[in-house]
Amino acid sequence: MEKFALTLRPSDAVQSEGEVPPAQRLWRVITLLLLAAIFAEAAFAGAMLSGFPWARAAHLASAALLILGAVTAACFALATLRRVPQGTKLGLMLLGLAVLLFLQTAIGKFAANGSNLLWLHVPFGVALVGLAAQAAASARNLGNR
Ligand code: HEM
Repeated sequence: MEKFALTLRPSDAVQSEGEVPPAQRLWRVITLLLLAAIFAEAAFAGAMLSGFPWARAAHLASAALLILGAVTAACFALATLRRVPQGTKLGLMLLGLAVLLFLQTAIGKFAANGSNLLWLHVPFGVALVGLAAQAAASARNLGNR
């Protein structure tokens, strides 16, 4: 059995056409899950504004899970993809995403506590969807020079 099956090696870049290395597939899934979770935050926010009482708790709990998920993914990427072309780039993008998610959570908390910051929180959320989409695109590019 092959060691480090989940670690993409430089040699994995040379694949037959149409074949996706397992590690690249894994990172595609991880980044798409992060993208979907950030998008879900917008849906929870909409439900919150429509007056559904459960939506606020869902928005808050997802924020905590998102930060945890992004930090874990960033550390995992930086530790395992160092020698893979585009690997460090993906790791740094995920780290940046984690930091911005933390900032977004702080802004959301301030807004919920009466500061007039929703004007910043909402477009920042849209920008985060864009950044997560960039990370997903970067995962598709793993292993390419
Ligand atoms: C497009 C995306 C988003 C929209 C439209 C949105 C909208 C909102 C709204 C309307 C509130 C309520 C503020 C108030 O009560 O005055 C809120 C609160 C909050 N948001 Fe967001 N949000 C988005 C994304 C995010 C993301 C990505 C995070 C974090 C990862 C986040 C974290 C929070 C937190 C922690 C609160 C405070 C919740 C509480 O204490 O009950 N939001 N957001």
